[in-house]
Order: sequence, then C-alpha cells, then structure tokens
Amino acid sequence: MPPDAVWDRPAVIGAMPEEIRRLTAALARPQRWTRGPFALHRGRAFGREVTVAECGVGKVNAAALAQQLLVDGATAVVFTGVAGAVDPSLRVGDVVVSEDAVQHDVDVTPLGYARGCVPGQPLAWPADAELREAALAAAREAARAAGSEHAVVLGRVASGDQFIADAARTAALASEFGASCTEMEGAAVAQVCARWGVPWVIVRVISDTADFGASHDFRAFTELAAERAEAVVRGILGRLEQGA
Ligand code: ADE
Repeated sequence: MPPDAVWDRPAVIGAMPEEIRRLTAALARPQRWTRGPFALHRGRAFGREVTVAECGVGKVNAAALAQQLLVDGATAVVFTGVAGAVDPSLRVGDVVVSEDAVQHDVDVTPLGYARGCVPGQPLAWPADAELREAALAAAREAARAAGSEHAVVLGRVASGDQFIADAARTAALASEFGASCTEMEGAAVAQVCARWGVPWVIVRVISDTADFGASHDFRAFTELAAERAEAVVRGILGRLEQGA
C-alpha cells in the first residue's frame, strides 16, 4: 500500500528523468514507493505536500500513470517537460502554458469526426483556469528572476505518439489545430483528468522547432528547457491553496 498521505495532494508528472529530477531532489522527507511499473516520490516542496513521478515517453505511459495517480486521490495534475515549437514565433527556451490540449494523431475522419477528435470526447480538453493562471504568473516571475526575456505564452498543446522533425508536419499542426507546441504526453493526461473531473495543466518549454534540426536541438537543449519548466512548476506549487 502507498503511504496514507498520497491522498489529497497535487501530482507532478514528467515523461523523462531530466524533466522531474530537480523536483524530486527538492522533496523534504522524501518517500518512494511503486505502483505497478511506476516509481512515485512524495514529500514536501515549496510549501506543500506533493507527489512527483516519471511516466515514460508517449500517450499510453502518460495515461496509465495519470489513471494511477487519480485512483490514489491526486487533487490536481501538473505535467512538466519540453516540447517542439509549432507556432513559428516561438524559440528554444520559450514557455508554453496549456490553454487546452488535443491529440493530433487521432484520426476517425472516415466516420465523420474532425481530425484529432476522440469519439464521445471534445476535440480539445481545456486546462483548469486557476492552474493556467498560476502557471502563467509563475512562468513570468521565473523569467524576471532569471533576468531572461524569453516568451511566456498560453497556447494549444498538440500531443501524439510521434517525434516531429519535419517542417511540413509542423506547418500542418499549426494550420489544422492552431497548436503552439507539440509533445507526446500532455493531451493523454488531459483526457484522463477531464474524465475524472480533476484539474490539470501542462507546462512545456521549447527544446526544438520540430523541423529538420529537431533531433539535434532536442538533445542539446532538453536539459536546460526541462530545468526551466521545473522552475515554473515550483512557482505553481507555491501558489496553490493548501488542500488544492
Ligand atoms: N518533445 C520535444 N520536442 C518534440 C518534438 N519535436 N516532437 C514531439 N515531441 C517533442
């Protein structure tokens, strides 16, 4: 059984070790336990109790962990990590807070559904308004504190089980979905949280521009971008009402 205090606390998920490493290290009185394939870390950080966990890459991993955290009573879910830019005005290091999230690789169009639409679900899942505002405020404050002029935007996150490294695909994500960025997990967590009625938000920092240079840039910039995203999550945790 997990420790009792797994209930009634927010959870932070990242797909890769470098996306949650610093948050896990910052936990006071840390405890680690496992739920099936997932290692969960709980402790106190930035003024509140929190659970931090790594899901692995892709929508299935993300949905599986989100489901487990919600079964265990998570009160909110924050997804942190890196993304490829879809909006051509975004640069490596810019921050995207999810206004909503879509699954760009879902295709039930032969049955008359819009591209990206999971039958019976909305095309895009809206992020929680309070978490969104907390994330934007935290991201702006972190930028000020770092003396950095990178952009902080509210936008659509397009998730799919594909690493996008092709300018034509990126342009299609922009024109078909109006996406700001693309990654491989967020909308799966959004779908699970929406079905449970639990608030969620995604914070992504741009590691690449999802074009021919994406694989190189992803390797070069992921560590730095992930660190910036984690700094924003620290600010969100500090802003959450106790008991949220
Ligand atoms: N995560 C970071 N960059 C990405 C990209 N170009 N495609 C999908 N997921 C990503």
